[in-house]
Amino acid sequence: MKLILAPMQGLTDVYMRDLLTRIAGPDGYDWCVSEFMRVTDRLLPARTIYHLCPELLTGSRTAAGTPVHVQLLGSEPSVLAENAARVAELGAAGIDLNFGCPAKTVNFHRGGAILLEEPETVHAIVAAVRRAVPAEIPVSAKMRLGVNDRSRMLENAQGIEDAGASWLTVHGRTKMDGYRPPAYWDAIGEIRQAVRLNVIANGDIIGEAEAEACRQQSGCADLMLGRGAVTRPDLVCRLKGIELMLDWPRLLELQLEFLGQMRLASEHPVLPDGVSKWTEGGAVGRYKQWLGMLTLGYAEAVPLFDRVKRVKGLEEIRGILQAEIQNSQASGL
Ligand SMILES: Cc1cc2nc3c(=O)[nH]c(=O)nc-3n(C[C@H](O)[C@H](O)[C@H](O)COP(=O)(O)O)c2cc1C
Repeated sequence: MKLILAPMQGLTDVYMRDLLTRIAGPDGYDWCVSEFMRVTDRLLPARTIYHLCPELLTGSRTAAGTPVHVQLLGSEPSVLAENAARVAELGAAGIDLNFGCPAKTVNFHRGGAILLEEPETVHAIVAAVRRAVPAEIPVSAKMRLGVNDRSRMLENAQGIEDAGASWLTVHGRTKMDGYRPPAYWDAIGEIRQAVRLNVIANGDIIGEAEAEACRQQSGCADLMLGRGAVTRPDLVCRLKGIELMLDWPRLLELQLEFLGQMRLASEHPVLPDGVSKWTEGGAVGRYKQWLGMLTLGYAEAVPLFDRVKRVKGLEEIRGILQAEIQNSQASGL
């Protein structure tokens, strides 16, 4: 079974990818996917590419050695192809094309899920990108079931296959479904049966039971983990049978480490290689976002989130976390 860490704009950024793949270790995730690079009418500057996927500077791998595939979003086949070729030259381990984003502004500019109404464009994009990228670099696509309904899902999936995609990830919802449960794993199965390429199932996998049910209903062996990977960072290990001791005290240490890395980044906003990094406010926001999500997986995160949610300074939050670690050590004695 392959497990993939999902692309999540504004969430699985370089720091979160680093953290989650380090927790999981080299046998955890098979690969992860960058935030999207939005392609309009020109070649993206290298600085933008590196900013969104700094792992390109380290062999397209996170520190744990997990490959990072670069996600592209756009609607112009030739421009996407040009950018894909550039990203491949910079060393991307793979290219993933976004046909799933439901965001209004993105869809308004004919990007993401809305393209599922234009299967010929979806096909043209995958075909152009596949042609532009060396054969040894995988080109994959990620789609939802459709825009308003599933009427074109097989046409899209077959078009993606005919265009030469290496595999297809399917998030089992339409754009209209947003992120509301349930995810329709049986519909992913219909797609799987209609194509020969490998289909990776995605949506609402938050534990062993959901993973098993999704595999049963979709018939897919491989799964992509999104929000569940962030709310329960040991999920991938549980699914792969990797022994890992990730109790709350350990998770507190990891939160401190995450903040430490972001503090470093905020103190050195532009590295010599031109990769721009975080402001303090941005780093604090990201940490709170993660802690808010951890409240879904860990009861201990609830009071901690209440304490930090109005705190603005990174150092103050670090102080709260350090005190929390000392308390948990004292109570464990
Ligand atoms: C905050 C957020 C950002 C996302 N950004 C992307 C994205 O950039 N590209 C993409 O293909 N899917 C994106 N998704 C969708 C996820 O990759 C995934 O398909 C979806 O969350 C369902 O999986 P889950 O239930 O395991 O989270 C995003 C989801 C969330 C919650």
